[in-house]
Amino acid sequence: MADTFADLDRYVNDNRARFEADLKQLVEIPTVSMDPDHKPDIRRGADAAASVLRACGADARVVQTAGNPVVIGELKTDPRHPWLTVYNHMDVQPADEPEWKSEPFKMQIRDGKYVGRGSTDDKGPGLTALYAARYAHQHGVPLNIRFLWELEEEIGSPSFEGMVKSELAKLKSNSVLVSDTIWIAKGRPAVPYGLRGVQGVTIRLTTGAKNTHSGLTGGPARNPVAEIAGLVARMLDTKTGKVKIPGFYEDVRPLGKKERDSFAAAGFNTARYKAAHELTSLRFDDPIEIMKRIWALPTLEVHGISGGYHGPGVKTVVPAWAEAKISCRLVPDMKAAKVLQLIRAFTRKHLPDAKVTAEHHLDWFLGEISGPHAAAATTALRFGFGRAPAFTREGGSIGAVVTMVRYLKCPLVMIGLSLPEHGYHAPNENYDWGQASGGMKTFVKYFSEVSKIA
Ligand code: BES
Ligand code: MN
Ligand code: MN
Repeated sequence: MADTFADLDRYVNDNRARFEADLKQLVEIPTVSMDPDHKPDIRRGADAAASVLRACGADARVVQTAGNPVVIGELKTDPRHPWLTVYNHMDVQPADEPEWKSEPFKMQIRDGKYVGRGSTDDKGPGLTALYAARYAHQHGVPLNIRFLWELEEEIGSPSFEGMVKSELAKLKSNSVLVSDTIWIAKGRPAVPYGLRGVQGVTIRLTTGAKNTHSGLTGGPARNPVAEIAGLVARMLDTKTGKVKIPGFYEDVRPLGKKERDSFAAAGFNTARYKAAHELTSLRFDDPIEIMKRIWALPTLEVHGISGGYHGPGVKTVVPAWAEAKISCRLVPDMKAAKVLQLIRAFTRKHLPDAKVTAEHHLDWFLGEISGPHAAAATTALRFGFGRAPAFTREGGSIGAVVTMVRYLKCPLVMIGLSLPEHGYHAPNENYDWGQASGGMKTFVKYFSEVSKIA
């Protein structure tokens, strides 16, 4: 197999301009799944993704689902070789933040840095895996590789399970690779074996038909913005982040020794973490406590409270309504339905006329911390980046992961390429050639290693 890798450095360097052009094309289609106005862009994005797959030698089809399409591409070798499914998502978050320094859907290429919405989450890593697969395919790695590119990951994958069920016979896999997670820091790769789940809710309180003059109604009128804020403050100790809803932590599985040791060896550094996310202060600074809180404990987060007046100056109105958008991150062995029921009961008790609406929910995931696929990931990252990964969990959620494990019934490994400073979901999101080029080498090695696992 020695000559499998002989051309690899040259291949990576020679394909840089082509990779950048492909990434630019994909980033410049605003595949924002959250916004119905972008439906035509989702369709265009799926077609462009299928073309990119075909140009790399894959058979590709755009599969319709109850929601957004999924793009499936295959690089086949021999039916006797094992199948690897590689998952990425080609939809993106909205990019309405005022802090963007350039157009979010015009990709800037500067010194090997690619700035634009979706560059790192998750178009860049997806394309990186494809370029590696093309090389592996051309160099006879005995593996069949299937790409599964989803277009509604960022809205909780509502149609993914239905698609997997109806395509099941065509999705037979010996293992799955997901590249949609982040490293501890630059130079410190991570292979997460777990993800948190999530349950979203909106809580809305209406106390009138319209906003009124606070000189006329302030006093007797209820203030829904204040009451919603009060409810949130009852749910959450804002200083510590501890959730005060009775029973919330009941099903949380304590962290085992093996996991705690693996977290402690991850090379997490508080100052670097703060700098990467541009956070000016935290609730606490102890690195072990931070890792536990992101990876192994649940949260209740308020994403926004709306209602009343938000323009310049102070407009003296009593708002007619207010709404809080909330989500809870869930860990083993919590149940989304139970968390929802706890929030409903708590709201009924403390703010009985508020209306709780359930939004999307995803289950948590816990895979294997060791085994042949984890070993292959270690070998691959050592080869691609010169450093073995830390085995950690991840604080985010990927709906497709739980679904793929449930239906494809095979091992799943997460080898992400994104860095904290790439800015997932943030303004000036970016990806870079360092991660892409090392990533291509990593994935070629990974493909070669998994082809040997029976
Ligand atoms: N790539 C992320 C998942 C992720 C987040 C991995 C943080 C590692 C660290 C994914 O695209 C994502 O953003 N998922 C959403 C799902 C939600 C909208 C249902 C999330 O976690 O908020
Ligand atoms: Mn993602
Ligand atoms: Mn995301």
